[in-house]
Amino acid sequence: MTAALDVIGLRKSFGGVDAITDVSFRVPAGTATALIGPNGAGKTTLFNLVTRLLPATAGRIAYFGQALDVQPPERIARMGLVRTFQTARVFPGMTVLENVLAGAHLHVRSSTLSQMLWAPAARREEMGLRARAEALLDLAGLREASGSPASDLPMGGQKLLEVLRALMARPRLLLLDEPAAGLNDSETAELSAMLRAIRAIGVTLLVVEHNMALVMDVADQVVVLDAGRVVAAGSPADIRSDPAVIEAYVGRLDP
Ligand SMILES: Nc1ncnc2c1ncn2[C@@H]1O[C@H](COP(=O)(O)OP(=O)(O)O)[C@@H](O)[C@H]1O
Ligand SMILES: [Mg+2]
Repeated sequence: MTAALDVIGLRKSFGGVDAITDVSFRVPAGTATALIGPNGAGKTTLFNLVTRLLPATAGRIAYFGQALDVQPPERIARMGLVRTFQTARVFPGMTVLENVLAGAHLHVRSSTLSQMLWAPAARREEMGLRARAEALLDLAGLREASGSPASDLPMGGQKLLEVLRALMARPRLLLLDEPAAGLNDSETAELSAMLRAIRAIGVTLLVVEHNMALVMDVADQVVVLDAGRVVAAGSPADIRSDPAVIEAYVGRLDP
């Protein structure tokens, strides 16, 4: 099976302290992988390494068979490797629709000048993007709010909006950093359904998440990180009953 992502012997050291130590795992194309582990385990650092926001100290990363370390960081998103940030929020001064459209800037080919002049090609492109953004808002049940300020949405809506914005960049591999953080149960269930829909259209997912209900619902595979090392990997059912995982993670988090 083709791997969307192959992480091999990855290491990241900050001032001599390893945040990531010899991490290897594979994300098969078209699947959803959950990356779980306690705070400080190195999950966000791993995302930063995969998206080349940070250079790795050692190891290799392949994206659909292509070595990533030779790519300039600004090319990564254009290759379809798109992420959301753990602390990212919506652009509060923009409407819901504008927030979704903001995710498309990577793929707008027309120059800024031609957009300003409203040339026919730029106009077609803009309309195409708008139609896609509206279709995504429909999918997420946010179409009614499209003209409202994004900051008026409840937290659940804002988190969905971040995912929609990422989808506008046409990801092949989508990395989500704690997308359910701060969501209530019904918002989490909505997000789960949305992630399953995204996976069903062929987008590979790698999701950092503490919410075990979401993980069990969405993931085909779970990778458990603790203190910068992979301590377990397997199906959600295997992981849930793995004593090492309960020791490293579940017991410490879920009271
Ligand atoms: N830029 C940085 N400089 C120094 N240490 C960092 C940096 N980023 C992360 N760390 C350290 O790396 C470890 C892993 O952090 P992080 O990847 O944020 O964990 P997680 O996302 O799993 O909670 C922590 O000990 C953190 O303090
Ligand atoms: Mg983190």
